[in-house]
Amino acid sequence: MNSIEIRQRFLAFFEKRGHAIIPSASLVTPDEQGVTNSTLFNTAGMQPLVPYLLGKPHPAGTRLVDVQKCLRTVDLDEVGDATHATFFEMLGNWSLGDYFKKEAINWSYEFLTNSTSAAPGDQGLGLDPNRLYITVFEGDANATRDNEAADIWREIFRANGVDENRIYYMGADKNWWEAGENGPCGPDTEMYYDVSNSFGGKALTREEFIEADKSGKVVEVWNDVFMQYEKKNGKIVGNLPKPSVDTGAGLERLAMTLQGVDNIYDTDLLASVLELTKKWSLSLRGQRILADHIRAATFLINDGIIPSNTDRGYILRRLIRRAIINTTTKKISDKDISDVVDSLATIYKTSYPDLVKNSANIKKVLGDEAVKFSKALEFGLLRFEKITGFEMTDKDQISAQIAFDLYQNYGFPIESTIEMAEERNLKVDVAGFNRLLEEHQKLSRVGAEKKFKGGLADSSDEMVVRYHTATHLLHQALHDVLGEDVAGQKGSNITTERLRFDFACTTKMTDEQKMKVEKIVNDKIRAKLPVNKVAMDRDEAEKTGARHFFGEKYGDKISIYYIGTTMETAYSKEFCGGPHVRNTAELAGPDGKWRFRITKEEAISQGVRRIKAVLTE
Ligand code: ALA
Repeated sequence: MNSIEIRQRFLAFFEKRGHAIIPSASLVTPDEQGVTNSTLFNTAGMQPLVPYLLGKPHPAGTRLVDVQKCLRTVDLDEVGDATHATFFEMLGNWSLGDYFKKEAINWSYEFLTNSTSAAPGDQGLGLDPNRLYITVFEGDANATRDNEAADIWREIFRANGVDENRIYYMGADKNWWEAGENGPCGPDTEMYYDVSNSFGGKALTREEFIEADKSGKVVEVWNDVFMQYEKKNGKIVGNLPKPSVDTGAGLERLAMTLQGVDNIYDTDLLASVLELTKKWSLSLRGQRILADHIRAATFLINDGIIPSNTDRGYILRRLIRRAIINTTTKKISDKDISDVVDSLATIYKTSYPDLVKNSANIKKVLGDEAVKFSKALEFGLLRFEKITGFEMTDKDQISAQIAFDLYQNYGFPIESTIEMAEERNLKVDVAGFNRLLEEHQKLSRVGAEKKFKGGLADSSDEMVVRYHTATHLLHQALHDVLGEDVAGQKGSNITTERLRFDFACTTKMTDEQKMKVEKIVNDKIRAKLPVNKVAMDRDEAEKTGARHFFGEKYGDKISIYYIGTTMETAYSKEFCGGPHVRNTAELAGPDGKWRFRITKEEAISQGVRRIKAVLTE
């Protein structure tokens, strides 16, 4: 059964049972939710539905069904085995305070085992009930054992003449579901299938089942979560207004089960991509990682992410880099990328027509990043060769500092350093590397946790703070030079190296205009203007004329940063969460010698231009 049929059958089955079909949400979580759940992407079908599971009425009703795009990076080390992927799709049906365990479990069973030739809407996947294995929650200090779910399963098996001893109680590590510290949660029941067909329909002992799961002979294909509780800061704080159901079945795993292959990469969702990546890596694992990561990157770019050094953009960047590291030649060309994107567009043209529409842009973003990193890697490889060729004997180990240098300055993930070291019979001080990495992350985490509009890299970093204030000056200077009607902010991104500012403007800036803007900003730096912050109510804030994004959600209490001695005479005023320097003089650097310089001005889309600028001597 091909993957398109699996999707269609699933949607039709639940539609017939009163569920409204809803489209997949973007991979990107809305910002507010991202912050609360500490996830940057939807990692499960339920994530975009959290507000509704918590009681908000959904416009489409109380029974929903969809196929949701998901991205998980927690399993990164397992990607490349038979069943793990970063990007995947999850089939899910939901009861929002409507039906509960009995219907959910019965429908799961029916959909999995109904005949493939039943009437439309009742067609199932035709799986053999004697190859199914079930886990349910065994209970712990938080919540009781889920005997109800187990009894429902026993009843189903009894009615269908299937041995009942295939239901296993497991702990919270397996049979409890939650999406982070906050939100709805509850016990679940998981369905496993004997994909290897090695048990001849036999029920297994608990130990045998655990072993079969570990070795991949049985594979989890579906999970029904019974959302009953709400967690806040990791603690159950009470029951949900109404118990709900969240289910998730991995499309790739179902496809593998139904297409008679022993891994997700040989299914129709990835096989033609793997055909291409086979040419670039000698190891099967490398080929699979390439296929997986480029697919994930393609979908991320399709959902509007571009590679950067922060948050979502950084995850995209890492996936692209990791893909390249996994090629034998450490290089991917534009043409390679283009072939993979074309192949993906063909696979997904029915389910995600936008992927076809956006493929030229995806190729460009992905291709640019890949080629750029391939070049950086060349230098990294030279460095690696130098270290291993001349500076070491084969009994040596690559020190933590060298591994960290390769990681930090050349973008080598530690696993690549290890692999390359192994090829040369060298060891790597991984424990030392991890210590260095942890120290480094501790430093940057402080900033990363404090995200705010504008994409600041690390708000605790002095350089980033300087660039943030410089961005406000630039914004006003652009208005001064280009006019009040143009130059409105469209986006901003700051790293420790530079600022980047996108603004509305239909024409290229002339050299003279650029020089004028630079001069204004430098004058304001030299004028040593104080930077002040005031907080006030929204209505009052709007009256000050401070710049802000129309249509943007701000809270009721607004903070305004103004650059100048008083609000009335200030050169720049903006609604902003900060942080900023205390005086523009700080933008001139410790010795007062830096100047503001525009390094690039270019169009990034119709009517939007991008400036990159630095503070440097
Ligand atoms: N939310 C559940 C899962 O991801 C269905 O397994």
